[in-house]
Amino acid sequence: MNETSIIAVANQKGGVGKTTTVINLGASLAMNNKDILMIDFDPQANATSGFGMDSNRETDVCSLILGKHSLEEVIVKTEVEGLYLVPGSRDLAGLEIELAGAEEREFLLVEALEKSVDRFDYVLIDCPPSLGLLTINALVAATEVLITLQSEYYALEGLSHLMSTIRNIRKRWNADLSVSGVVLTMFDGRLKLSQEVALDVKEHLGSILYKTRIPRNVKLSEAPSYGMPVILYDARSKGASSYLNLAEEVLQR
Ligand SMILES: Nc1ncnc2c1ncn2[C@@H]1O[C@H](COP(=O)(O)OP(=O)(O)OP(=O)(O)O)[C@@H](O)[C@H]1O
Ligand SMILES: [Mg+2]
Repeated sequence: MNETSIIAVANQKGGVGKTTTVINLGASLAMNNKDILMIDFDPQANATSGFGMDSNRETDVCSLILGKHSLEEVIVKTEVEGLYLVPGSRDLAGLEIELAGAEEREFLLVEALEKSVDRFDYVLIDCPPSLGLLTINALVAATEVLITLQSEYYALEGLSHLMSTIRNIRKRWNADLSVSGVVLTMFDGRLKLSQEVALDVKEHLGSILYKTRIPRNVKLSEAPSYGMPVILYDARSKGASSYLNLAEEVLQR
């Protein structure tokens, strides 16, 4: 592969596994000898704290977007070989409001990334739980969207809104944007509900649904408090192996 895949991990619903997927898919792709850049594009900055790092630095995603610093200046290395991060910033929330009326406001991330992401195989963008200007910037900059769905009764609710947003982005700004896939997270095979949701989602989405389902696994929720991806925290956990499987599918698509 010589083209960089820029994957926006999105869903306007909160708490559906976006950040967990960015961190652990990122680490798993890096384990496959790929160079990965994660961009923490959520004012909550969970992807940054998940690596035990501080957000709101002198050089963070906000200073990148505002053109104060270059990509090379804001990137930090993680403990995983080949895995890099643009640290997040709470100021992104204010920026979203400030820029609401600005010209070219949908292209801030595109401009910040242009040409300088060539050395990475994949860029993973952690989107906030909304369809506001930040997510729009991510979708305009992306080549693909990866949607996480929590295995719960309301999983599909809101998906049509997200899909119509994606169609709109294609029409107006980014004709080549594709949906690379949908991944079910927090799956509990013992629950009839989880099984039913999986069937329902498969019926609706067909082949864009990844075969890998991410199980509900306590190691995945513990790892961020130790500042590491699950592969470093507990490499033998179900959480770790499921994200390695997902990475394999992503590499094949
Ligand atoms: N497979 C899983 N098993 C167990 N816990 C999980 C799993 N995936 C995510 N979690 C936990 O669920 C919570 C929400 O996950 P996460 O932060 O990844 O969602 P999110 O979509 O990024 O949320 P937000 O929309 O607020 O950014 C976190 O506490 C996380 O540790
Ligand atoms: Mg998140």
